[in-house]
Amino acid sequence: MSVDRPRPLVAGNWKMNGLRASARVLEEIHAGYTPGLRAKVELAVCPPATLIGHAAQLSVGSRVAIGGQDCHAKESGAFTGDLSAEMLADAGATYVIVGHSERRQYHKEKDQDVCAKAVAAHRAGLTAIVCVGETREEREAGKALAVVKKQLRGSVPVDSNSHNLVVAYEPVWAIGTGLTPTAADVAEVHAAIREELKRLVGKADAPKVRILYGGSVKPTNAAELMAVENVNGALVGGASLVAADFLGIAGAYLG
Ligand code: 13P
Repeated sequence: MSVDRPRPLVAGNWKMNGLRASARVLEEIHAGYTPGLRAKVELAVCPPATLIGHAAQLSVGSRVAIGGQDCHAKESGAFTGDLSAEMLADAGATYVIVGHSERRQYHKEKDQDVCAKAVAAHRAGLTAIVCVGETREEREAGKALAVVKKQLRGSVPVDSNSHNLVVAYEPVWAIGTGLTPTAADVAEVHAAIREELKRLVGKADAPKVRILYGGSVKPTNAAELMAVENVNGALVGGASLVAADFLGIAGAYLG
């Protein structure tokens, strides 16, 4: 275990789930985020944009960070339906997920789009959670490492550092499927990401960048996944919608 090992982050991505009543889930998360857990792991929740303002207000004092799930590259303008990083920050977010595979797939986002969004996040003072990950076909063709490294090089802006960048490795085939890579496969990809980060943020800062694993993380597999070298937390989808499950995953850090 490296002495530089950064403070882990467990972030919940609620995706297109959550109404005002979901504030209850957030309140349960606050209640379970005890000083003991706080000492070991940072928590963030990325609700749908409609709830960011309310969630941020509720989270004042709780130390649960709030994040957006996407942002536009521009600060403002005629982009109907879009949200800028500045708007997310203004609503109380401190993180924003960019380049999630669902954005890459359904909105045809390319690495250069993701990079522009990460630049926008930094401009607005947000930490960008940049997502990368291979498809099943790419893994079966032995291309997982090459795909992830290429996505990383194309998606991480040059102004990135360990404060404004988090990388999330989310194999597309593991998202919402109940399937997870083996610990050895996760270790291999995360090591490759760490190597690539040396070139992207510099040798001194690379060990401090948090690299999250995402894809079917549950309380039952969290301890094994979080123990893998170079895994500094999790990006959690489905299980983050249930406070007990989300807290159960974070609880992997209680040892
Ligand atoms: P699941 O945890 O539901 O597999 O989703 C992972 C994910 O996409 C988080 O961003």
